[in-house]
Amino acid sequence: MKTIFSGIQPSGIMTLGNYLGAMKHFVPLQDQFNCFYCIVDQHAITVPQEPAVLRENIRRLAALYLSVGLDPNKMTLFVQSEVPAHAKLGWIMLCTSYLGELERMTQFKDKSDGRGESIPGGLLAYPPLMAADILLYGTDFVPVGEDQKQHLELTRDLAARFNNRYGDIFTIPEVRLPETGARIMSLAEGTKKMSKSDPNQGAFISMLDDADTITKKIKRAQTDSDSVVRYDKAEKPAVSNLMTIYSLCSGKTLDEIEAMYEGKGYGAFKTELAEVVVETLRPIQERFEQLFHSSELDDILTAGAEKANKVANEMLYKVEKAMGMARI
Ligand code: TYM
Repeated sequence: MKTIFSGIQPSGIMTLGNYLGAMKHFVPLQDQFNCFYCIVDQHAITVPQEPAVLRENIRRLAALYLSVGLDPNKMTLFVQSEVPAHAKLGWIMLCTSYLGELERMTQFKDKSDGRGESIPGGLLAYPPLMAADILLYGTDFVPVGEDQKQHLELTRDLAARFNNRYGDIFTIPEVRLPETGARIMSLAEGTKKMSKSDPNQGAFISMLDDADTITKKIKRAQTDSDSVVRYDKAEKPAVSNLMTIYSLCSGKTLDEIEAMYEGKGYGAFKTELAEVVVETLRPIQERFEQLFHSSELDDILTAGAEKANKVANEMLYKVEKAMGMARI
């Protein structure tokens, strides 16, 4: 059976972008593949985190993973820092990387922008740790949104470079982008990615926003001046983004949505879009409430870490042995 690995940072509350670009696609995969889904807390600490907030966000993300429909009997859910092999292989992958290729990562450039001399070293080491996450499990496919594509290319390069030098140890993973929704855009600016770290709360919908908040955010979302609900990414990026969200949440095609709102303007479109988003998130939020405080959640994470440690340690041993580090 082929293996899937993906991770999400517990660095805020998941957005609709995280859901539509990544999490939603994780669910059907658990029936066909050996899936590992990870809460990548060691990636989150590449920028400063408040301990109490990070602790809560890790638990929240764990509960959300399960609330979207992931089943602990079908996949493995775990916290990265509970599997020490990630940090160990992360170091080895850092030593396999070149400074030039790490500095070329667009996410590194974006996140280090404006920090002057105080760029955290972890931001540069971030992609090698991500490569380690993936390579430890012999991963075949990595379902992610478009913003992670460059990190995946680096992962493939590092795996191939390592294999060239030490033998055929790593599987070279392939990226799996969703056909639609690989890049959900900000509600405030149709040409910018929806991000949980956006200082403007109105720019994103959180997966835990209540119905009122969702409706308000959608009503205020950017559109344009021609009042026509038509998909045109180049000319009408903001409206096209709202249509993509509508389509993914309702199952309707873009053509169907265009036909439904012909001659009706943005008011009716936005009212119904808000309803569709609220209905999509409602069952997830209900399950979340049950899971968040449950001891079941701890049991699932404990069992997940145990399984992940077993698989990851086997790979780490192979790697260290090939490099001359294991004594036996
Ligand atoms: P993170 O935590 O930023 O995002 C988690 C997932 O959500 C996707 N995503 C989006 N998709 C569509 N539209 C958006 N606006 C949007 N925003 C986020 C991301 O592409 C991602 O799939 N580096 C990763 C975490 C990571 C990882 C890994 C992923 C660490 N190790 C190994 C895969 C495999 C990150 O920061 O994702």
